Amino acid sequence: MIKRTYDWIDERLNVTPLWRDLADHDVPAHVNPANKMSSFVYCFGGLTFLIIVTQILSGMFLSMYYVPDINNAYYSVKYITDQVLLGQVVRGMHFWGASLVIIMMFLHMLRVFFTGAYKAPRELNWVVGVLIFVVVLAFGFTGYLLPWDQKAYWATSVGANLASAVPFIGPYLKILLAGGSTIGALTLTRFFAIHVFFLPAALLVLLGLHFIMIRKAGIAGPM
Ligand code: HEM
Repeated sequence: MIKRTYDWIDERLNVTPLWRDLADHDVPAHVNPANKMSSFVYCFGGLTFLIIVTQILSGMFLSMYYVPDINNAYYSVKYITDQVLLGQVVRGMHFWGASLVIIMMFLHMLRVFFTGAYKAPRELNWVVGVLIFVVVLAFGFTGYLLPWDQKAYWATSVGANLASAVPFIGPYLKILLAGGSTIGALTLTRFFAIHVFFLPAALLVLLGLHFIMIRKAGIAGPM
């Protein structure tokens, strides 16, 4: 039944060459866990991706209840935690995942650095990686404000004041970030939009480039 459905789709869309090109490859010996000499450090990039996927899924469910305005944001998060079925679990996944993704991404970066995998012909992928790093940190910064509690408010105040310390453009940067001269309603909607629309779009494009480049150059050889 499944085979017949697949063949029916394949006859019409010719999908076999597409997925074979993407997924039908031998894993190099130094990466293959079946090989005793392989190293586990090569799984860090894939694990980072796995956490990114769980962040996107848990974030999608949180957005069903979260309300991005200063009167309701705090109570909507409290409602998710106290009332919604499995809300505490989903929120917990998103909360802990946010730290875990940064740790995993950093370990992945260390692997790439210490195996010299950033060298030619993979320099451009390192540059894309650095942009991904900035985007992931921005996810953390914008997400931190969303619960709209004391910790969120003051952490963002500190962040905005740091931005204002940048020479020459600092004061403008702070206004751009906060949406005004103080942290308030406009900051919250701005951070929400950046967190759920701008950054995911940027991350998808960058990860697409990252994976295309990995596919083109292949995983770097052993040290
Ligand atoms: C969301 C964050 C990221 C994800 C999901 C991700 C994912 C991956 C995956 C799955 C690979 C294949 C090899 C492996 O798993 O180690 C890889 C390779 C690579 N990544 Fe990342 N990465 C991320 C961030 C970064 C960052 C921050 C950098 C560097 C600044 C970076 C630089 C590279 C380079 C240069 C390669 C090629 C290494 C090789 O061919 O051995 N990546 N990445």
